[in-house]
Amino acid sequence: MTDHWSILGAGALGCLWAASLRESGRPCTLILREQRLQEITGHTTHLEPELQLVEANRRQRFTISITDRHHITAPIQHLIVTTKAKDTQQAVHDIAPMLTDNAIILLLQNGMGSQETANSLLKKCIVWAGTTTDGAWKEPTDSAYPAQWTVHHAGHGQTWIGALSPEQPLLPSSLAKLATVKRLSIHPCDDIEQRLWLKLAINGSINGLTAIHQCRNGELLTCPERWQQVNALCEETTQLLLRLNIGGDINLQAITREVLQRTANNYSSTLQDVSNGRKTELSFINGFLLNKARQLGMNLPSHQALMEQLKQRGIQ
Ligand code: PAF
Repeated sequence: MTDHWSILGAGALGCLWAASLRESGRPCTLILREQRLQEITGHTTHLEPELQLVEANRRQRFTISITDRHHITAPIQHLIVTTKAKDTQQAVHDIAPMLTDNAIILLLQNGMGSQETANSLLKKCIVWAGTTTDGAWKEPTDSAYPAQWTVHHAGHGQTWIGALSPEQPLLPSSLAKLATVKRLSIHPCDDIEQRLWLKLAINGSINGLTAIHQCRNGELLTCPERWQQVNALCEETTQLLLRLNIGGDINLQAITREVLQRTANNYSSTLQDVSNGRKTELSFINGFLLNKARQLGMNLPSHQALMEQLKQRGIQ
């Protein structure tokens, strides 16, 4: 039987995963916020939600089932959580009563900290976490078509998934089957925590700076002064990773340079949040690094200064 996945969080990543599942002929349901569903159902009686997936010049259209947590009709067995890190605790808390025992949950958040909190709220479930380098952005919803979402797959990446608790290392078959979703390159791994740390370390040197300088990722590389700032952040993060015994002898500067080159034309997720008036995830990125450092009695002056500068500009 084909697994029916529910996706909690209809941002760019949630829409990309929903569209990718539909493209591979799999059923899935987007779980929206109550207010969002009300706006849609209040606006039109002929409700045929549609998800459009755009890549280069190709546009595909998929029908999609939508609901909110109050209208879920059957217990959820398979759930992908794509909410922002800052919204995840509340979202998981609210959805928990609708989950079956041993439900399979995949958490896909930027940064760190939110996965641990979510895991502690999902004791009866099998919880995996993932990290992705896929690039996606969502068009603002057109008020004339409230039940239509358009997501752009801006760059194909890799997604690594792994069990959050060491006592649950076996790959559930429904997650194994996700690896056959054509569009997404999903790889199970047994070192997800290391991979989450690496992504966090990279984002910690890019995202906040792009918000300060209001620039594309590549402009951190081409401007010497900004590149120096990236290096200072990388250097401090490397010291922290060494103290935590994470990442072996990785060269964070070199990896970050490679990411900036590959995503040169992209606006980081943080800058997109700022431009759209949303709260950023920086407290789960640089904030998380600073907390870890504090626990170890370490100072990260560049990260500290970056967070202060962001605060002064009203960026949270
Ligand atoms: O958060 C993001 O936008 C991405 O992780 C990254 C690596 C900065 C590329 O845009």
